[in-house]
Amino acid sequence: MPGFSTRAIRAASRVPDAPQPPVNVPIYQTATFEVADAAELAGLLSFERAGHSYTRHSNPTHAALEAAVAELEGADAGLVTASGMAAIHALVMSVLRDGDDLVIPRAVYGGMVGLTGSVLQRSGIEHRAVDTTDPEHVEAAIGPRTRLLWLETISNPTTAVADIAALANLAHARGVLVAVDNTFASPALANPLALGADFVVHSMTKYIGGHSDIIGGVLVAAADRVQPARDVIITAGGNASPFEAFLALRGLKTLALRMERHSANALSVARALEGAPGIARVLYPGLPSHPQHDLAVRTLRDGMAGGMMAVELAGGRRHGEQFLDRLRVAVHATSLGGVETLVSHPASSSHRQLADDDLAAAGLSPGMVRLSIGLEDEVDLIEDLVGAARQAG
Ligand SMILES: Cc1ncc(COP(=O)(O)O)c(C=O)c1O
Repeated sequence: MPGFSTRAIRAASRVPDAPQPPVNVPIYQTATFEVADAAELAGLLSFERAGHSYTRHSNPTHAALEAAVAELEGADAGLVTASGMAAIHALVMSVLRDGDDLVIPRAVYGGMVGLTGSVLQRSGIEHRAVDTTDPEHVEAAIGPRTRLLWLETISNPTTAVADIAALANLAHARGVLVAVDNTFASPALANPLALGADFVVHSMTKYIGGHSDIIGGVLVAAADRVQPARDVIITAGGNASPFEAFLALRGLKTLALRMERHSANALSVARALEGAPGIARVLYPGLPSHPQHDLAVRTLRDGMAGGMMAVELAGGRRHGEQFLDRLRVAVHATSLGGVETLVSHPASSSHRQLADDDLAAAGLSPGMVRLSIGLEDEVDLIEDLVGAARQAG
């Protein structure tokens, strides 16, 4: 009879038979998977055989989430990663080589500015940042070694809307692939692959997770484009945890409902803030005053415009800071896409990598605050935000 420790380890590792499928995808919280022989393991490690060998390579909870997001985005395959940045990094490293370059929007998430200006530049990959709302600027920026055009469906934080269909046509005509960060819209509001994009990434930390309690990313594309990105994750690390994949799966189930409420609340808040005392400008794609309002209506589902807006305080940086201090319902924190309204000041947080000139070029100003409108009662949000702007002004 084996000793107690041996029996305990065996007994506690026995996977139960579960003839009735669970309603929710189980969390396969395991680093590794048992194989029958060396040939099976070799087949799994080289992806010649279906199944799982080691969670850095793949895991059933990840696979369920990858299939779900791929289906919702209209893609063949997906790759779940430890963060949105891990997905972005895996994508760009799978496409670009030393000497290549990529075109990015001037108005883009600060983490992308950080990645292009540091890791990519050190790897010999150059970038050009242009106003992607003007196709002529994009055309002019594409050179002989340009391999990738980077877009955000709705840009962070200025909410510029990308004309994905027109820019994908233009890029493809020059042999350039198109990747779209669809984080602000979520798959419930936009499907960039259907508009011609080759890759879609999400920070699942935001709307897909939806509760500000996970960090995760996902990349979807044709299967032969996902595998090279998976190879980057396998060799450099950056895989997600099964628990976070489980929470992201749970988030997907209520995504459509949450996006409806985020969009309805945000439209009401945007209308209340536009022209209110202390407010110079409201940038929300759902407002007719937004520079790409018509494009937003064409691009985003059912007239919804999501929960993100940029608000310019009339009194510049000082009033921006005072506004944040006076909020009682909205929470001053970085990140976005959660059930709670989150407010941040890009110039000192998400876009801190940008010098003042680059901030201005990206359409940002020191007094601009970013609002991620949550699911609270609309009247409480309006009172809080309009009141804080009045007191700051
Ligand atoms: C548009 C966008 N893309 C990507 C990221 C990066 O995501 P993560 O923080 O999950 O790495 C963020 C984070 O704020 C974002 O706003």
